[in-house]
Amino acid sequence: MDLAELEVELRGLQKKALSDIATTEAVASLDELGSSLLGKRGAITDLLRGIGGLPAEDRPKVGVIANEVRAAIEAALEARRGSVGAAELTARIERERIDTTTPGPAPRLGSLHPIPETIGAIARIMGNFGFTVAEGQEIEDDVTNFQLLNIPEDHPSRDLWDTLYLREPGRLLRTHTSPGQIRTMRATTPPIRVILPGRCFRYEAVDASHGFEFHQVEGLLVDRGATLADLKGILDELARGLFGPQAKTRFRPGYYPFTEPSVAVDVSWGGAKDGWMTILGAGMVHPTVLENGGIDPETHQGFAFGLGVERIAMLRHGISDLRAFLEDDVRFLEALR
Ligand code: DAH
Repeated sequence: MDLAELEVELRGLQKKALSDIATTEAVASLDELGSSLLGKRGAITDLLRGIGGLPAEDRPKVGVIANEVRAAIEAALEARRGSVGAAELTARIERERIDTTTPGPAPRLGSLHPIPETIGAIARIMGNFGFTVAEGQEIEDDVTNFQLLNIPEDHPSRDLWDTLYLREPGRLLRTHTSPGQIRTMRATTPPIRVILPGRCFRYEAVDASHGFEFHQVEGLLVDRGATLADLKGILDELARGLFGPQAKTRFRPGYYPFTEPSVAVDVSWGGAKDGWMTILGAGMVHPTVLENGGIDPETHQGFAFGLGVERIAMLRHGISDLRAFLEDDVRFLEALR
């Protein structure tokens, strides 16, 4: 082969390569084509094997032509890669298009347990009358749970509270939220308007309407000139807030050592199986209890109430067995949504 022949071959290769490139439709095929032309074992390298047979002065000329051919092929590959690549991307975007308006899987929504739900409802209603929420403590001492509430040791009224005592002398699980009255009165000064929600414990045989663990919300107002009529008015509003505008309350005489007079309060909620149901105990705070809280009963009066949260939650949600509150059955919660 002489220089002229080799040049014809190289130019021919270039021409064929450019037309192949122009008709190749995929980036991957262009890559293959590129290495079959330009690679170590490619067509150009192949042709240049013949260079050894040329006279020395012709060899650089072949090199120049070969570089031109190579550069032309590379440029054509590059340009074609650009347009084929763009077309591939467009096709892929089209193929993988997602309809973002399709509804997604529905999220599983949780719901509040009826006990905190009911406490929240009570807190909102009482909040309208200026009551704030505070917490007592679940482990109490005998002094605060009983004695400062005017229930001396060995007093027969202790039978009202079947108490779970702790091994440590004088310590017990609170039987009601009323000791929070003492703690609040000692920690603040009148006027006081507070509710104290929380868990209480009693040594009880468990059945559909009794639990050894249950919740109360204590209410306490201490101010100059507070009366039983104020208590009645607030409890009426509370009943209406919880059960609707048709709800009514009724006071019956009651007995608690820490109030004088004491009342038991029934609610008629006007629902399907209406009737009177006792939901709380209340009364005017006993002067001795005010004194124990550091308040002068000559200048200040107070009323207090303690209501059973489970009972109210049962009425609000039509639950007939209080044990359901403590069972971890999700279906119970889902049914209340
Ligand atoms: N602590 C009482 C109970 O557990 C309920 C109660 C009655 C609370 C009268 C009060 C009250 O604040 O004034 O049965």
